[in-house]
Amino acid sequence: MAACLGLAFSSGVFAQDDANSYVHEQSDGYEWPTDSAVLEKLDQWQDQKFGVLFHWGLYSVPGICESWPLCSEDWITRPIDNYEEYKKWYWGFSETFNPTAFNPDQWADIMEAAGMKYMIFTTKHHDGFCMFDSKYTDFSIAKGPFASNPKKDVARYVFDAFRKKNFMIGCYFSKPDWHCEWFWNPYYATANRMQNYKRDRHPDWWKNYQDFTYNQLMELTSNYGKFDILWLDGGWITGDEIGLDKVLAHARTHGHEGLISVDRTIQGKNENYQTPERSIPEKQLNHPWESCITLSYAWGWVPDAKFKTPNEVVNLLAEVTAKGGCLLLGVGPTAEGLIQPEVETCLRQVGKWLKKNGQAIYNTRITPNYHDGNVWFTADKDGKTLYAIYSLPEKEQLPATVEWEGNLPSGTMKLLNKNVNVRYQCKGNKVTVTLPKGLAQEPLAFRFIVKK
Ligand code: GLC
Repeated sequence: MAACLGLAFSSGVFAQDDANSYVHEQSDGYEWPTDSAVLEKLDQWQDQKFGVLFHWGLYSVPGICESWPLCSEDWITRPIDNYEEYKKWYWGFSETFNPTAFNPDQWADIMEAAGMKYMIFTTKHHDGFCMFDSKYTDFSIAKGPFASNPKKDVARYVFDAFRKKNFMIGCYFSKPDWHCEWFWNPYYATANRMQNYKRDRHPDWWKNYQDFTYNQLMELTSNYGKFDILWLDGGWITGDEIGLDKVLAHARTHGHEGLISVDRTIQGKNENYQTPERSIPEKQLNHPWESCITLSYAWGWVPDAKFKTPNEVVNLLAEVTAKGGCLLLGVGPTAEGLIQPEVETCLRQVGKWLKKNGQAIYNTRITPNYHDGNVWFTADKDGKTLYAIYSLPEKEQLPATVEWEGNLPSGTMKLLNKNVNVRYQCKGNKVTVTLPKGLAQEPLAFRFIVKK
């Protein structure tokens, strides 16, 4: 089975005015937007911290890596050796994909219980199969066996289910489309992820592809209600090549005020936040970013997947938050259209932790001294109240004391999960907190006022 791509991400520096306030500085190719509505929405998005990225499409039927095995690149492996046969087999799932149990309210209930606050849904992945009823292609969930289902325009129902729960709404869309004949023209072999011809030799094909992609983006931003985030994947094609400026200008003045554009890995004006994939930047960053990380090892549903534990998810969330990012957790609904029980159990557990400790995560901002050993620090927006999150490594037990250097407390310190004050000592620059007995084996969060 194909492994999926990891993108290199380098961390950058932030500029500091004084201990707890930061100035916007260009770094790592990040360009601060100038539209105040976009800035406002970015700030709102940075309060959410925890979201879900659903991958749902043809690949969910056999339970294999999303789209990639269609591509003839030599790092890819496939369940069928012969390339042409593989393609036929894979495209064929458009004739059988019939998610009769499709229940986006179940998805939304579980993600809400997990403590998630925003969502992103794959309306079209690189394979070109649309999870919405596009008038520009028949290659969609709305045209196969699911056509007679009242929820055939799947994306609409997914977005609406999450709107009812006040999630911020994100639309994933792949710019490259390996099913579109104007991108992968059937006259030639499909050698790699790029269009399979020279643009200047076939300018008409290229133009058709550009129009098709632009039209689909206009369709999505015109007919599917309000989005907060447009998350564009497939960074080997840039937004500029498919008219993204025009799409955004139209969308932001027609119902999607302040729409956050995530033209992934492209940098500059239309990558309003950065998206390191399956990794966390080495250091804290002072511009908006999000790590997208899978709950299992795959983006979509695969059989017998091994999932991260609830504590592992919380540990990721603590690190990401302390470094100034949001965590976008990858979940794959089944081919029937449900979230499987193992995912539900894990996520509800994460939600239980967040119910007691969420104060240390949501609405927080970065603080300069953000890390010591297993302890991650976040701050209220006033910069005076700090949270220390002790992440409990897998297979370890809680220690008797938690220690860190710097961030000296003044006054009382509260252990959030028990809502009790805890005893601590400061010696020089070192803080030692004594833990009450009998705590559950899970990450802990402490709240205190930092000494000036
Ligand atoms: C990568 C992959 C894609 C996946 C995405 C999720 O860009 O190309 O398959 O959907 O990451 O973050």
